[in-house]
Amino acid sequence: MKYKVTPTNKVRVLRENDFLVSKTDLKGRITYCNRIFIEFSLYSEAELLGSQHNIIRHPEMPRAVFHMLWNTIAEKNEFFGYIKNMSKDGGTYWVLANVTASVDGNDNIIGYYSVRRKPKESAIETIDEIYRNMLQIERQAGTRIAIDESSKYLSDLLSKKGISYEEYILSL
Ligand SMILES: Cc1cc2nc3c(=O)[nH]c(=O)nc-3n(C[C@H](O)[C@H](O)[C@H](O)COP(=O)(O)O)c2cc1C
Repeated sequence: MKYKVTPTNKVRVLRENDFLVSKTDLKGRITYCNRIFIEFSLYSEAELLGSQHNIIRHPEMPRAVFHMLWNTIAEKNEFFGYIKNMSKDGGTYWVLANVTASVDGNDNIIGYYSVRRKPKESAIETIDEIYRNMLQIERQAGTRIAIDESSKYLSDLLSKKGISYEEYILSL
């Protein structure tokens, strides 16, 4: 189900010990979410179950971040990233997300799992600026090369710092 939501200036901040958990099947459809995930999304559990996570996608998130997320978990590696999410009323809530593949006894991926927690305010400020630049690059580049161009911006920025993506995220 698609909902037409317009972003607003409302911002919600996670509490120190909030963990927003969700699980999906292989196609990324939500099969489980905990009470706090539901609370911040402002959707009902029935609306969330069976939906893709893009139900809470904020339009100001660069596509390259999700591209990297899916590539990372498909290789059974752990993804860490800051995500600006959007509630059903258009409000924003930033999370530091950890996303992993769930595997069976034969190491086959059977679904995906994510835990989100409160990011530091200073980290949000830093990442927000980077994402704004990436989004602008994506909008100017056009659909076909948007992800390549903004990924290049991010990797150039990281090589100037001499640090890997994951090291950078976890250092903020
Ligand atoms: C376990 C898991 C958790 C995810 N969590 C989020 C999330 O919190 N917010 C979000 O926008 N996308 C999340 N995604 C990524 C979405 O599946 C999707 O790629 C993203 O919202 C971009 O949607 P779009 O390709 O339709 O633009 C998650 C994916 C997985 C597998």
